[in-house]
Parts: sequence; C-alpha cells; structure tokens
Amino acid sequence: MREIQVGLIGLGTVGCGLVKVLEDNGELLQQRLGVPLRLKKVVDIDLDRPRPVNIPREVLSTQVQHILEDNEIQIVVELIGGMEPAKTFLLDAMKRGKHVVTANKALLAMHGSELFAAAREHGVNIAFEAAVGGGIPLIRAVREGLVANRIGRIYGILNGTANYILTRMSQEGTTFAEALSGAQKLGYAEADPTLDVEGVDAAHKIAVLSSLAYCCEVDFNHIYVEGITHIDPLDIQFAKDFGYQIKLLAISRSDGKRIEVRVHPTMIPQEHMLAKVEGAYNAIHISGDSVGDVMLYGLGAGMMPTGSAVASDLVDLGRDLVAGSGIRIASLASEERAVACRQVKPMDELVIKYYFRFVAVDRPGVLSKISGILGSHDISIASVIQKGRQVKGSVPIVMMTHEARERDVRMALAEIDDLPVVTSTTRFIRVKKNESVEESQS
Ligand code: HSE
Repeated sequence: MREIQVGLIGLGTVGCGLVKVLEDNGELLQQRLGVPLRLKKVVDIDLDRPRPVNIPREVLSTQVQHILEDNEIQIVVELIGGMEPAKTFLLDAMKRGKHVVTANKALLAMHGSELFAAAREHGVNIAFEAAVGGGIPLIRAVREGLVANRIGRIYGILNGTANYILTRMSQEGTTFAEALSGAQKLGYAEADPTLDVEGVDAAHKIAVLSSLAYCCEVDFNHIYVEGITHIDPLDIQFAKDFGYQIKLLAISRSDGKRIEVRVHPTMIPQEHMLAKVEGAYNAIHISGDSVGDVMLYGLGAGMMPTGSAVASDLVDLGRDLVAGSGIRIASLASEERAVACRQVKPMDELVIKYYFRFVAVDRPGVLSKISGILGSHDISIASVIQKGRQVKGSVPIVMMTHEARERDVRMALAEIDDLPVVTSTTRFIRVKKNESVEESQS
C-alpha cells in the first residue's frame, strides 16, 4: 500500500485541527504508520469562511458524494456533529466498505447500536477517540489499556465549559451568569451553551464510556442529567467550609448486575485529585479490579488537542489497512455476542450523602421542625451550620447528611419546603462517595 486516502466531512474547528496536525506532523505520522496519510477530499457546505488552514482548491468540495463515491478513499472522517446528516453519511460510507472516524459523541450515545451493527455487517471499523475527552486518549485507555479489568466505577470531569465556569465561580465568587458571560467572551463557552451547562454533553460522553467499560448498551434516556445553572456562589462557599469543591461530575458505577450512570453537580473532598482539576481541563478517574485507580488529565476540547485525537484514529485504522488485518477490536471492546443491555439503576434507589441549604425564618424551633421531618424519612444529619444573620428576614441553614436514599430525600424536602417558616426552595447537592481502591477489588 502506497498511501492511506482519507476524506474529511466538516471543516469546523476540529476539522481544521486535523488538517493542521496532518500538515505539521505529517512526516512523523508517516514514520509511525509506514505510509503517508493523504487528505484526498475535504467537504464542507461553506468554503468561503476564513479558516486557519490552507487547503488546495482541488481538494475542497461542497458535495459529500465526492468522498462517498470515491473508491480510493478508504477512511471517512465525520466532523460535522449532530444527528443528521452525520448518521446518514456514516452509514453510507460503511455500506461502501469504508472505515469511519467520528468525534460525534451525541450520535454515538443516541444511535451507537445502529452504527456498530452497520460496521459489523459491512466488516469495517468505527474509531471515535475524539468523541470523549478531546485530546486525552481515553477511549483507547478503556478499550485496550484496561481491557483486563472489571471496571467498578468511573468519575469524570468531562465538560471543559462547565468546569471553567465552576472554577471562576469558586475562585472569584462570581455568579453563574457572570462566569458564563466571562467564558463566552474568552471563547470557552459557545453562544448557546445549553448542552454544556445543562450536563447533556457530559452525559453523551459518560454513555459512550459506560458502553465500553461494561460492554453493554446504555439507554441514554435512563441517564439522570442535571446541570450547573442553579449553583449559587453561596453553595460553593459553604462547600469549601465543609472541605469540598463543587464539580460537574459524570459518574458511572457497576455493582456487577446493574449500573449507575448519572451527571450532576457533586461535592468532592478538596484533597481528591478531581477537586484540583481547574479551568477548561478534563479529567477522568477509573477504578479497575486489577489495576486499581487510574487518572487521566488533559484538554478535553480545542482545535489541536481534538485534531490530535482524530489523527490518532487515522493511524490506528491505517495500521490495520497496511497490515491487511481487517477488524482488530470490536467497537464496544467486546465480542458482540456478549453485549447486553444493562439496566440503569433508578435515581430513587441511589444511596449517598447530601448537602442541603434551607432558607428559613430565624426563630426558635425552626431547626427542630426541619430535623424532625428529615428523621421521619430516615435521613440522619452529620453536621449543621447556620451562618450570618437575617437577609430579608431569613437565614441559610446548611446541613450535611449521612448516607440517605434519594427517594427519601425528595419526599422530605417536598415536605420541608411546604413549611410556612421555610421561605425558598431548598437546594441540595450530592456528595461523592468516599471509596478506596480495595473496595473496587471486592
Ligand atoms: N463543549 C465541550 C466542552 C467540548 O466544553 O468540554 C466538546 O465536547
């Protein structure tokens, strides 16, 4: 084989990153792969937009058929994002016997089974290193490096935008709205940041990782997703007083039968490595029964880090093409026969510690009313603080609980919020379990 011919659909930020990595490190990649990677065709609907790369005019096209119908193109890279037409393009490419690379976590999370089934049917590979964790080689770590492990749990800071906003709020005491606006001015947040700040982007990523870690299909609709828009600077301050940082955590745990998959703001002990991950960085903490704890850290977004991940997929697929070895690793890191649909545990059954912030009138007997209701729902209080005196006749009362069941917590808080002495809706934040390596080996 003289060269590997590649077609790229989508010349946005990540597409430009790939072009730049191939330009800057083309020789290095050739040394490592044995043959050159040639970007034969690049398709985008808008070719006039200014971009940080120079691509010869004859390589550019607005017609996706110029890639799909080109028999010499062996690998198609999809970097347009969204459901359609990305899905149709990928299915079409695979039907024609082309391997595909995608960074499209939303598509993999929602339609992964259909795409992987098509790959099996047509004897091609789907590579998706850039879909989770940007430049961090996370997919390869879970699929290959940790393949000898039963994965017990995954904790990830998987959204750089949300982590940047929470870091600003924590360091500067700003509100969510102020931190978001700062992030948008610096280009860390999109004009429409909904998917990032509402936790949906992190949920897509943890769905993909859970499928790989537990060799199963995960129904995205069963994942609990809660974003950071309601986080108040007061909660960040109280969390610090208790020795915690608040992070948007994507969590996936297996008890061997059912799995927990959820995304929500979480209080993490300040001494935990995840609590120290700041700004737009991503990090993931994985516990396996043989390896123990593993943590990966790096940039989860951006032109060059994500371009680096896409290029790594091209080399991976290219090595198989050069060796003529066909499909080397099943898409979900498992024999497809072994892939099952694992039930996601309902949130009501979650047992965890909670932080509560009540706002109530400052009067004798209020605390005993609140603690009475908590006790009647089997919720035990670990510590309480009441800081500062009245703000408009009310005071914040902050509590940490021992482990309690989510269903009980919701019922108790509904009852408490109905009390005439409670003046605003109670805020609650879940607290990360304190686990040791030994537990993951049991
Ligand atoms: N928007 C994502 C983030 C990066 O802020 O981390 C792409 O998944």
